[in-house]
Amino acid sequence: MKTRVCIIGGGPSGLLLAQLLHLQGIDSVVLERQSREHVLGRIRAGVLEHGFAALMRLARCGTRMDQEGQIHHGFLIAHEGRLDRIDLHKYSAGSSVLVYGQTELTRDLYAARERMNGSVIHDVQAVQPQGLTSASPAVTYRIGQELARVDCDFVIGADGFHGVSRQAIPPGVLKEYEKLYPFGWLGLLSRTPPVSPELVYAKHPRGFALCSLRSPQLSRYYIQVPSSERVEDWSDEAFWAELERRLPRSVADKLVTGAAIEKSIAPLRSFVAEPMRYGRLFLVGDAAHIVPPTGARGLNSAASDVHYLYHALLAHYQNGDDTGLDGYSAKALARVWKAQRFSWWMTNMLHSFPDALAYDQRLQDTELAYLFSSEAALRSLAENYVGLPF
Ligand code: FAD
Ligand code: DHB
Repeated sequence: MKTRVCIIGGGPSGLLLAQLLHLQGIDSVVLERQSREHVLGRIRAGVLEHGFAALMRLARCGTRMDQEGQIHHGFLIAHEGRLDRIDLHKYSAGSSVLVYGQTELTRDLYAARERMNGSVIHDVQAVQPQGLTSASPAVTYRIGQELARVDCDFVIGADGFHGVSRQAIPPGVLKEYEKLYPFGWLGLLSRTPPVSPELVYAKHPRGFALCSLRSPQLSRYYIQVPSSERVEDWSDEAFWAELERRLPRSVADKLVTGAAIEKSIAPLRSFVAEPMRYGRLFLVGDAAHIVPPTGARGLNSAASDVHYLYHALLAHYQNGDDTGLDGYSAKALARVWKAQRFSWWMTNMLHSFPDALAYDQRLQDTELAYLFSSEAALRSLAENYVGLPF
């Protein structure tokens, strides 16, 4: 098979790029290791920047997002018995975020690919990029018992943190920066009305908790748990009881509990791989960088990669101009590191660290006290949370 752009990974990054390229007449093939049902069964991001939403509209995938997504002008931080609001609208010059689940957004992208007869091949095994430093790279894979090959101009690694693309960059070229936190987030999705119309991020001596939502009838909650915990050991009842303990009374009193639709643990990790380009391979999204979810930056960082790469590929195909491709890695990484900084800061401010000194704890409290006493600090938080410009 021959195409212009072979995209490894049918998550949001890969599908969005495929869709944008398609609309400009640039054909691609998406290779996805899992079935579509499996990809759509993952419950992940919920908070989107307007930059991401704009890309979805550009990809002609924004109709349902605009109908069903909720604009949020602020969120709450619970700490030391207080409930303080971050007024995003006020402190980010009128901006906001969009609450729309990654699952729904991915569903919209798959529907669009189908509508336009885009090629998405599921259940591929042993995917391997080839000849990345040559003028004619390829990707080989196995489907069932058959070996197959896609010849292309460019290979896009959009295969997430555990994908194969990043590993195709030789160790002498690739530099990885990583920080693993000693805890994860246990998440629960339930068909219950959300406890609050705005997200509540709660700092508590027992650990962090987050009350989020997907719709007026669908809630998403998270609690910090040690890395050693297993999801099988958490009954729904145990989850609700622990969540309730970590919320201020005024919030906990409104909590409506119910059966879990989904429950899973996500480890907390910070990770960046540099460079994001090797020959004709370009990494996008979680394949190149991971943030702890506290600042809701992960998918949003993938979106800026897609934006830069889309424009770079367009300039290549439409004008023979490769400056965008040559500058991609540096440009993408500059924004990626800012998202890393913000996610690290939010994570440090709101979680319980098992080895924290009394001194560290006082500093953590002071960080919050400073935040709510300083307009400059509130502006900085809001500017980052709504998303830095692309
Ligand atoms: P992925 O979604 O990981 O997609 C990669 C795809 O590649 C997968 O479908 C995978 O099956 C496929 N694949 C892997 N290996 C191969 C292979 N060898 N061959 C072929 N295909 C392969 N981000 C936000 O911006 N806001 C939030 O509110 C937010 N909340 C989050 C909450 C949680 C609990 C978690 C875990 C994450 C959250 N994120 C959030 C992060 C966000 O979900 C990720 O950044 C996003 O999924 C990245 O998309 P991606 O397409 O780059 O990678
Ligand atoms: C959600 C996840 C996040 O990481 C976050 O910061 C806010 C919301 C969510 O899944 O709804």
